[in-house]
Amino acid sequence: MDKILVTGGLGFIGSHTVVELQNEGYEVVIIDDLSNSSITVLDGITAITGKKPLFEKLDLKEKSGVEAFFAKHHDIKGVIHFAASKAVGESVQEPLLYYENNISTLVYILKELKKLPEASFIFSSSCTVYGQADELPITENAPVKQAESPYGNTKQIGEEIISDTCKVAPNMKAIALRYFNPVGAHETVNIGELPIGVPQNLVPFITQTAIGLREQLSVFGDDYPTPDGTCIRDYIHVVDLAKAHVIALKRLLENKNKANYETFNLGTGTGSSVLEVVKSFEKVSGKKLNYKIVGRREGDVISAYADTTKANDELGWKTKLSLDDAMRSAWKWEQKVRGNN
Ligand SMILES: NC(=O)c1ccc[n+]([C@@H]2O[C@H](COP(=O)([O-])OP(=O)(O)OC[C@H]3O[C@@H](n4cnc5c(N)ncnc54)[C@H](O)[C@@H]3O)[C@@H](O)[C@H]2O)c1
Repeated sequence: MDKILVTGGLGFIGSHTVVELQNEGYEVVIIDDLSNSSITVLDGITAITGKKPLFEKLDLKEKSGVEAFFAKHHDIKGVIHFAASKAVGESVQEPLLYYENNISTLVYILKELKKLPEASFIFSSSCTVYGQADELPITENAPVKQAESPYGNTKQIGEEIISDTCKVAPNMKAIALRYFNPVGAHETVNIGELPIGVPQNLVPFITQTAIGLREQLSVFGDDYPTPDGTCIRDYIHVVDLAKAHVIALKRLLENKNKANYETFNLGTGTGSSVLEVVKSFEKVSGKKLNYKIVGRREGDVISAYADTTKANDELGWKTKLSLDDAMRSAWKWEQKVRGNN
């Protein structure tokens, strides 16, 4: 079976994707510098699949390290590139750190892929490229808006770098997957989301509040023009998201792509408000969540959810798991991580 490099493969989405790749029989090599993950995730993956993936601890900002890796693994057939820094707020404070980590690593990898006879490349992009879209649900044809943060800008620039490269590198095929809001954990709870410090995202904040690690969840604004006044997002179960990566990769490996560079939205197609997510959590956990409505947060998009027609039709992929499934697994995972189950 083909050998696939997964960068950032010990992270949240990467680890779930490694599991799905191994389940499909691929040989996986992970690169991660452990800057936002733990080496114990390797054991979590192995516990699920029964097979330990190859692992190299490497900071992809080290160009010579990337070159040496590809010299050793010249039989890599595809790369799924998750490795990046992802905290929007931090990116505003530390823009150069984000441009360096998210752009230089991408360039170094693409340079190596250009040298291979054939290369398939999957890029982790984000619905953040659409900003507040004029029309909902959001299709892939919606215009890319001026980025709201250096993080968002790295995704836009990243897509452009890949698209430009594919125009001149006939050996290269690439897909940018624009994720909406990944949540949940593997049903075995051997892997899940492991935020370092205060979580930036809603679901880990909810579960950490419920377990007593955070005092209260702040809901930023309930006066938005939405049915219950809180912001709406498209929460996709990380396992559904992981499976889409395997399908997209196969599309490239089997030359089923329609262009050298393609983009797909990955979401459920349904928007859920912050209060609906809280309700879902309370339902599946049987716990009352301590939350408070506070003022709006600057930069928050009011509503964003995906039109999934292209991914459904072209990739033959559809989400199977619900928001309740995601909240149930996220809660089980939180309880396991805090040793409270
Ligand atoms: N989680 C989300 O809400 C979301 C939404 C849209 C897009 N994305 C993108 O998906 C990708 C994966 O996100 P995630 O939530 O799994 O994040 P994560 O932080 O859990 O995983 C990223 C992994 O990359 C590693 N890494 C970072 N810089 C590295 C470097 N220079 N060299 C080697 N390893 C490095 C980290 O240690 C971490 O294990 C990222 O590119 C992110 O921007 C995430």
